[in-house]
Amino acid sequence: HFRECLFKKLGGPHDTQPGRKVTIAGAGAVGMACAMALLCKGVTNHVALFDDQKEWAAAERLDMLHGSMFINNPRIEQCNGVAATKDSRLVVLTAGNRPKPNETRLDVAQKTADIVKAVMPALLEQSPKATFIVVSNHADVMAWVARKVTNLPYERCFSTGCHLDTARFRLFIGQLLGIAARSVHGYVIGEHGGSSVPLWSTVSVGGVRLQEVLPVIGTENDPMYWSAVHKDVVEAAFRVIAVKGYTNWAIGLTVADVVSAIFEDSHRVLTLSTNVQGFCAVKDEVFMSVPCVVSAHGISAICRPKLSDWEKNRFLKSAQTLLEAQCSIKV
Ligand code: LAC
Repeated sequence: HFRECLFKKLGGPHDTQPGRKVTIAGAGAVGMACAMALLCKGVTNHVALFDDQKEWAAAERLDMLHGSMFINNPRIEQCNGVAATKDSRLVVLTAGNRPKPNETRLDVAQKTADIVKAVMPALLEQSPKATFIVVSNHADVMAWVARKVTNLPYERCFSTGCHLDTARFRLFIGQLLGIAARSVHGYVIGEHGGSSVPLWSTVSVGGVRLQEVLPVIGTENDPMYWSAVHKDVVEAAFRVIAVKGYTNWAIGLTVADVVSAIFEDSHRVLTLSTNVQGFCAVKDEVFMSVPCVVSAHGISAICRPKLSDWEKNRFLKSAQTLLEAQCSIKV
């Protein structure tokens, strides 16, 4: 019963695809950052680069292969079609349209949804036992589209969601306190975007909860304006996009962390975007980030953090934002 109070188990068991082949569907800046992070961190040694720009993907493949001596002699499949993605253990979906500097992730959602609808069935046919990690933005909405068009179980079709927002949140708090990001604990949940929710009630350093020191931390009454940390999290990507036109390195490392948590059957808790219906009074099927337990086939359980009223209100607003976004997509 104690475990039931902590988290809700999901589905399973699953007939997991053997091996560690990872297909990157979309060999653009984000997809290549994912591939490079996976190979350089030794998470896998077997990658397939799938992209409709075949020549581009072939050139990216060659460019990575030329570094083979430095990254443990990887196997990078030549992708002249979806068949080269066959029997992948994991498929990372990065294909999609980039938001322009003055656009939000939601502005490009329908164009990307059309790509997701086109490629997901073909990728699943080649790898029926794979787990699908959706990165294409708007990540929460695209994970919902990907699952809808394949009817995959929730455990095996989700998005990196707020795992990157949580990483930024911990980094910025650590910078203010002079502590390494890895030693700051706490989560950002909800939308991977403007309506995300910083769970200040979960933030702790060295076993000390910041909210015990400053009960109003992060709220409108906080005299130290810790709310600026969450504002920086929300704006972080757009500050980079304004100059580079896209972000890719941090999301590549984020994906490598999720993939390694799956390959290690780690049971680590990561904030990933999944169906939160029934969680915190959410009535409809909506994909957004909550702390999830990650195992060999994907998400094995959803944690049930005790949210403050302040956090719960914002979580429900985020759910409404995403529900409206989902309803605006022609699937
Ligand atoms: C970002 C993109 C991945 O937050 O949405 O950098």
